[in-house]
Amino acid sequence: MSYLDKKYGLNGKTAIITGGGGTLCSAIAEGFACAGANIILWDIRPDAMKEKADVIAKACGDNKKVSFVEVNLMEEDSIAKALEKSIKIYGSVEILLNGAGGNRGKGPLVDVKTEDFEFVMKLNLLAGCILPTKHIAKYWIDNKIKGSVINIASMAGYNPLSGIWAYSSAKAAVMNQTMGHAKELAKYGIRVNAIAPGFFIADQNRKLLLNDDGTPTQRGKDVLAKTPMGGFGLPEYLTGATIFLASDAAQFVTGVTLPIDGGYLCDNI
Ligand SMILES: NC(=O)c1ccc[n+]([C@@H]2O[C@H](COP(=O)([O-])OP(=O)(O)OC[C@H]3O[C@@H](n4cnc5c(N)ncnc54)[C@H](O)[C@@H]3O)[C@@H](O)[C@H]2O)c1
Repeated sequence: MSYLDKKYGLNGKTAIITGGGGTLCSAIAEGFACAGANIILWDIRPDAMKEKADVIAKACGDNKKVSFVEVNLMEEDSIAKALEKSIKIYGSVEILLNGAGGNRGKGPLVDVKTEDFEFVMKLNLLAGCILPTKHIAKYWIDNKIKGSVINIASMAGYNPLSGIWAYSSAKAAVMNQTMGHAKELAKYGIRVNAIAPGFFIADQNRKLLLNDDGTPTQRGKDVLAKTPMGGFGLPEYLTGATIFLASDAAQFVTGVTLPIDGGYLCDNI
């Protein structure tokens, strides 16, 4: 085995990737599979997972390494059942990538609908971070597995983006909980980190950032003007950092949120 495979490779590990039917998390899953891990996609959309699983299997050249389990992360019973099924597939689970999330509604603060706010908070904070970690950390503690959790935060977590109040609140809380969970679980050898992607074109934000002809909307132009490296992110830009955080190379790294944003956060005048 090469030095890099030994240090950064994910051979012998199994990763659950929530939101695995979506744009960014399926790309991360592909990276993990190509780095040697078994992959179990978790999502509420089985058709999307089937499609992504085929792509990932082709990319890593082994369809036995890729599975998927349907789950509604808003429901704890559903998470518990999905975990039970998942452990049976490859015998154990060592990595959790908490990627499910998204936004609903955008507008002035004075027009915020409580039900939309509650839905988005629940999706990104409870379903997208706390509940899967709660269940999988319990399984790891009971089985003495030194697992690794990777959460997905956002630029909106550092400095709220206009009009998306609940999403910004939830992603700030994801960074807060990344540190809290890291401290709480360190004594079991469990690490908890996060990435904070900049602006990546995905189904959930395509209309916000791009016109039908592919040119940037005004909001897209505003983002590009604040991104020193230029351009929107591509999903594969997330694989290097997530493989590192999941690997034994990061064995003393916990509680950090790593921005992958083309410099958006260090923009100045
Ligand atoms: N695209 C970006 O620019 C960007 C930037 C920063 C952070 N993020 C975050 O990255 C993550 C992935 O985003 P994406 O852009 O790939 O979005 P996406 O919509 O393509 O993926 C999200 C996935 O979550 C799944 N999901 C939603 N509700 C669920 C539920 N109740 N149970 C199980 N699965 C559920 C969806 O079916 C979908 O496949 C999200 O947490 C998002 O907030 C995205």
